[in-house]
Amino acid sequence: MSASKNNPDKERIISGASVDDDASFELKLRPKRLQEFIGQSKVKENLAVALEAAKARNEPLDHVLLYGPPGLGKTTLATIIANELGVEYQQTSGPVLQIKGDLTAILTNIRARQVLFFDEVHRLQPALEELLYSALEDYKLDIIIGQGPSARTHTLDVLEFTFVAATTRAGLLSAPLRSRFGIVLRLEFYTTDDLKYIVERSAEILGVAIDDAGAHEIASRARGTPRIANRLLRRVRDYAQVRGAGKIDEPTAQAALKMLEVDKHGFDEIDRKLLLTIIEKYQGGPVGLNTLAAALAEEPDAIEDIYEPFLIQIGFLDRTPRGRTATRLAYEHFGIPVGRKQNSFF
Ligand SMILES: Nc1ncnc2c1ncn2[C@@H]1O[C@H](COP(=O)(O)OP(=O)(O)O)[C@@H](O)[C@H]1O
Ligand SMILES: [Mg+2]
Repeated sequence: MSASKNNPDKERIISGASVDDDASFELKLRPKRLQEFIGQSKVKENLAVALEAAKARNEPLDHVLLYGPPGLGKTTLATIIANELGVEYQQTSGPVLQIKGDLTAILTNIRARQVLFFDEVHRLQPALEELLYSALEDYKLDIIIGQGPSARTHTLDVLEFTFVAATTRAGLLSAPLRSRFGIVLRLEFYTTDDLKYIVERSAEILGVAIDDAGAHEIASRARGTPRIANRLLRRVRDYAQVRGAGKIDEPTAQAALKMLEVDKHGFDEIDRKLLLTIIEKYQGGPVGLNTLAAALAEEPDAIEDIYEPFLIQIGFLDRTPRGRTATRLAYEHFGIPVGRKQNSFF
C-alpha cells in the first residue's frame, strides 16, 4: 500500500493502515512480550511452542511469515519475536529495498541469530527475491564480482538469522518464496472482547480513566483492528478532555464517535459508499473489482487490502468469482428491501 499523499485512506480515522502521527503513539502502546499480546490465541500458541523449541535446541527460530489485514499486529509480533529470543531486531521493507546491493549489505552485516523483519514482502523486487532464497535456505549468498567475461560468482557465508516477513497479500507471494517459511501465521480480526481489553490496557498506559461501557463502545466500532481501537481511543480521549469531565464513559464515547462520524459498525463514508454503489448502481452485484474501484475513484489495491476484508468478515460483502456482491445484511443495514434486486444470489 503506498504512503502517497493522494491515498484517501490516509485521511480515514477508521483505516487499519498506519498514518504518520500514529507512529510515536503506537510505539508506546505496542506490547513487548508475547504474554502482553492480546487475542490471536492460535497464533500465540504456535509461536510460543516454536520459540521454546528453538531456544531449547539452541537453534535460530525458523523463518516466519505473518499475514493479514493492516493494523492487526504483524510488526508488533516481529518485535516480540526478537524480544522473546533475546536477539537484535532490524527492519526493512519491500518498497525500501530497491537494488541488490542494499540487500547484500544487510545480509552480510547480519548479527548472529538476529531477527530481520521484512515488511510488505509482496513488494520485494523479483531480482532480490532470488538473492534471498539461498540466504534463507542455507545462509549463503551468491554475489557476482566483476563484469563481462571476467565476472566470477562468489559464495559468501551469512550468519544464521530469523527472517520474519509480513504481508497483507499472501496470495501475491511466489511459491518458492512461500516455501522458505517454516512458520506461517495468519492474523484474524479481533473480537470485541479482545479489543475492549486492548483499549483498557492502552487507556491505562495513557493515564486516561475509562469505564467498562466506554471501552466497549470504542471496541465495538474498531473494525476488529487494534490500531483503529487505539486511534479511536486517542480521539475520544481528546473529546472527553475538552467537552466532558476527562473520563471516558458510554455517553462521552458515543458523542465523540458521533462527531467523528464512525457508526456502530465502525463504518465511515467510504464503506457506506462502497456498499451503496454495489446495491444501487449494480443491483447488488456481482461487480468486478476494477469497475467498482473506478466507480468509487479508489485504487483496486486499497479496496482489496483495506476496505473489503472487514466488510467480508462481518458478512456485508461477498467476493465471488464473478465479482463483489452486497449481502442481505448490507441491504438491511441501509433499510433497502432485498426484493428490489433480481440476482439469483438471494
Ligand atoms: N494483540 C495486540 N495486543 C495489544 N495491542 C496490539 C495488538 N496487536 C496490535 N496492537 C496495537 O496495534 C498497533 C498496530 O499494530 P501493528 O503491529 O503495527 O500492525 P500491523 O503491522 O499488522 O499493521 C500496535 O502499535 C499496537 O499498539
Ligand atoms: Mg506493520
